[in-house]
Amino acid sequence: MTITNNHFDDIMKNRRSIRKYKEVEITDHTIKAIFELALRAPSANNLQPWTFRVIKSKAAKDQFSHLFKWNRSQYETSSAMIIVLVDTRFASRAPQIYDKAVSQGSMSIEVRDRQLENFKKQNPNPLDVLKTAYLDAGLVAMNIMLTARSFGYDTCPIGGFDRLNAPLAFGLENHEAVMAISIGVADDFGNNSVRLDFDQVGQIH
Ligand SMILES: Cc1cc2nc3c(=O)[nH]c(=O)nc-3n(C[C@H](O)[C@H](O)[C@H](O)COP(=O)(O)O)c2cc1C
Repeated sequence: MTITNNHFDDIMKNRRSIRKYKEVEITDHTIKAIFELALRAPSANNLQPWTFRVIKSKAAKDQFSHLFKWNRSQYETSSAMIIVLVDTRFASRAPQIYDKAVSQGSMSIEVRDRQLENFKKQNPNPLDVLKTAYLDAGLVAMNIMLTARSFGYDTCPIGGFDRLNAPLAFGLENHEAVMAISIGVADDFGNNSVRLDFDQVGQIH
């Protein structure tokens, strides 16, 4: 599966939250191809605090069904449900990420060592850490939804599921669940939802 729609304007304007999907399988290859692009999302200090779990097989849909008391149509009809979580201890990812940057030649050893030293000295407020993680997760989630559209799939972002119990259901400690994203081939048109205009929400100074 490759990109079937490379029209940025169409991808942006015609994305809708789709709540009913056709019975179509999505391959692991396609899921990984979507992630390959979506994971280009920016994140604070490039620390990529996100973790994903993809519920795809019938067995997995049965296993995690209890997390989705609401939004049943998306859960049952989608080709897969992507759970977007954040690692509340994401700073611990720094060595892995910066070592990779050094090994591919995009960061010097000196910069890596200085950055890692800086992280050790910082003692950020846990609420600020969490806010950063959620902010970054929102950016990658949007990337997933837009990339999915370019592959011919539609999505629905979902906050209405058992976010409290989701991390442990996947055996993930020190994580919070941010949102789920259903993905599949649309079987409805979604709503033509309104947006406030820039002049109603913004000002140029
Ligand atoms: C954080 C977040 C949580 C959402 N949760 C749900 C949800 O639980 N169920 C649902 O059907 N739609 C959910 N939505 C979709 C919104 O209702 C939808 O994005 C909004 O009405 C605008 O419509 P559109 O996405 O079709 O443009 C959620 C959207 C966001 C961003």
